[in-house]
Amino acid sequence: MSDEEIKRTLWTEITLFDGQMTHDQKMALLVENDRIAMISPMSDLTPDVSESADEVYSGGVITPGLIDCHTHLIFGGSRADEFELRLEGASYEEIARNGGGILSTVRATRAASEQALFEAALPRIQALINDGVTTVEIKSGYGLNRVDELKMLRVARRLGQELPIQVVTTLLAAHALPPEYADNADGYIELICNDILPAAVTENLVDAVDVFCEGIGFSVAQSERLFRAAQAYGLLVKSHAEQLSNLGGAALTAKYQGLSADHIEWLDEAAVRAMAASGTVATLLPGAFYTLRDTQVPPIELLRQYQVPMALATDGNPGSSPIFQLTLMLNMACTLFRLTPTEALQGVTYHAAKALGLKHQEGSVTVGRKANFCLWNINNPAELAYSIQPGRLKQRVFQGEINR
Ligand code: NIG
Ligand code: FE
Repeated sequence: MSDEEIKRTLWTEITLFDGQMTHDQKMALLVENDRIAMISPMSDLTPDVSESADEVYSGGVITPGLIDCHTHLIFGGSRADEFELRLEGASYEEIARNGGGILSTVRATRAASEQALFEAALPRIQALINDGVTTVEIKSGYGLNRVDELKMLRVARRLGQELPIQVVTTLLAAHALPPEYADNADGYIELICNDILPAAVTENLVDAVDVFCEGIGFSVAQSERLFRAAQAYGLLVKSHAEQLSNLGGAALTAKYQGLSADHIEWLDEAAVRAMAASGTVATLLPGAFYTLRDTQVPPIELLRQYQVPMALATDGNPGSSPIFQLTLMLNMACTLFRLTPTEALQGVTYHAAKALGLKHQEGSVTVGRKANFCLWNINNPAELAYSIQPGRLKQRVFQGEINR
């Protein structure tokens, strides 16, 4: 490419949180086309770089584009009625056992067309985009049969194609037992392994495989069968584990070198050790903890002690976390789980990328990488976690394009 075709944009006098740490001097960042071409302290910035830039911006805080590494943002219907039931005293598990919960969303999702699901998901994903998210993971799990699981995953792929955001898909067919398989969980796991998963792989709809390993979900043995099938297709696994009880899903996930074990309120020390050894990320979901008025705080101190990377996500879904604002999770993780603001920021950038198997592509402001970052109208990165205040995102740069 000749020099004239390169578009150069320069950010100066910025405070840079690069995904791991905040640099202690004012920095400059140069983007050439869709890549980060240079990062340097202001004191080292030479006039020729400034003069070569087509556009120059000054001031503010830059972070990597945020990564929401755990969402269920495609679904039909609403569960506002269950919200009211819970306010009257019903528990999430009771509602699920009475055919509500995930299964009520399954009915609405099965009834919705692909187009209707796409349109329903748009405002949710747009809310994440407006909040600085540049990569989002989206799970299936409200279809629970081949046709409807694949329908959800196709909608997820389409969102990534039509909007300025990278979408990573996860097959969560093992989210709940569909009515057709009531009392036959093993049969349903077989259906996933022999039918739903192969079909999703053939259509290139699945980037990873997830399971809800829980009393109201699937057992450790069933989860293991699913993980084996996923591995046979070369897919990485992850889990909803230790959310409501200590069943052993996280240790199983570690045994299969899983990307992440998520929720993990009831995680014990042996499982923390196993996750540290396998490089499995601990994904914290304070939105679900908050919504369900949980009191069992994940073992943060143990995770720190064993240096298990902690990611942070919205878990955006119609039941346990109807929240589509990742910056709010920064505040909740600090207030509810006692993370430091730096840990929380690492959780939605550097560690969230690892939880998606993207640690070499995303989650860090690094020379040579795609220019996916956010410019915030604040003085210090910790302010993002400190106050709950939409509207601070000044620019969102996705693949070099400023689309805000
Ligand atoms: O991550 N734990 C299971 N799945 C979701 C809840 C989904 C729903 O209630 O619709 C979660 O909390
Ligand atoms: Fe979830």
